[in-house]
Amino acid sequence: MRYLIDSADVEAIRKTISFYPVAGVTTNPSIVAKSGKDLKTVLTEVRSVIGPQRMLHVQVLALRAEDMSEEAKRIRDFCGENTYVKIPVTEEGFAAIQKVSAAGIPVTATAIFTPQQALMAAVAGAKFAAPYVNRLDNIASGGVNVAAEAHRLLQMHGMDCEVLAASFKTVEQIHQVIMAGVSCVTIQPEFFAKLTSHPLTDTAVADFVSQGKRYYNL
Ligand code: E4P
Repeated sequence: MRYLIDSADVEAIRKTISFYPVAGVTTNPSIVAKSGKDLKTVLTEVRSVIGPQRMLHVQVLALRAEDMSEEAKRIRDFCGENTYVKIPVTEEGFAAIQKVSAAGIPVTATAIFTPQQALMAAVAGAKFAAPYVNRLDNIASGGVNVAAEAHRLLQMHGMDCEVLAASFKTVEQIHQVIMAGVSCVTIQPEFFAKLTSHPLTDTAVADFVSQGKRYYNL
């Protein structure tokens, strides 16, 4: 199981990493815009906070395959190893996924709304396929089920590609996707605590401290 942070908020990333086991960070153009900083500044800051080992997923903005491929190379050169270039699954995107993957740059296929898009991206060479769970739920199209079916398809056909489920707005969506077998999710920083905090845990710890403190003398 791998958890990634879906954010370019450097302080939130730093804080989340200090507490939780984080495998990497995902961004997209909207997330970069929300930071109010230019792309190079954002990527430099995020990479320096997460270090060279964690994954960094960065999306292309170009629309044509050739331009996407050039942009992918620039992203990879700038961000270094363990950088995945996110490419949307348009027709031009599928062409770019093949080119970029063949050039040895790992690709995350993004803006996925159907299981077949995920499978086609995998066949094209993508290492991750990112279905947008909440955006599907917003149009009553069963985001969890799409992610689950994409996961099953990739497994069934022995693809060297994993579902990286994205676009979450509730803990229940995250839980259901993981229960369906998806073992890679990207979530906003606040979800790490929402997934794991419980008042009974805090009560249990408070009780242990008050009852044990007179006896603990190691
Ligand atoms: C992931 O990398 C996606 O770009 C992201 O999760 C989309 O999330 P949103 O639907 O909240 O914009």
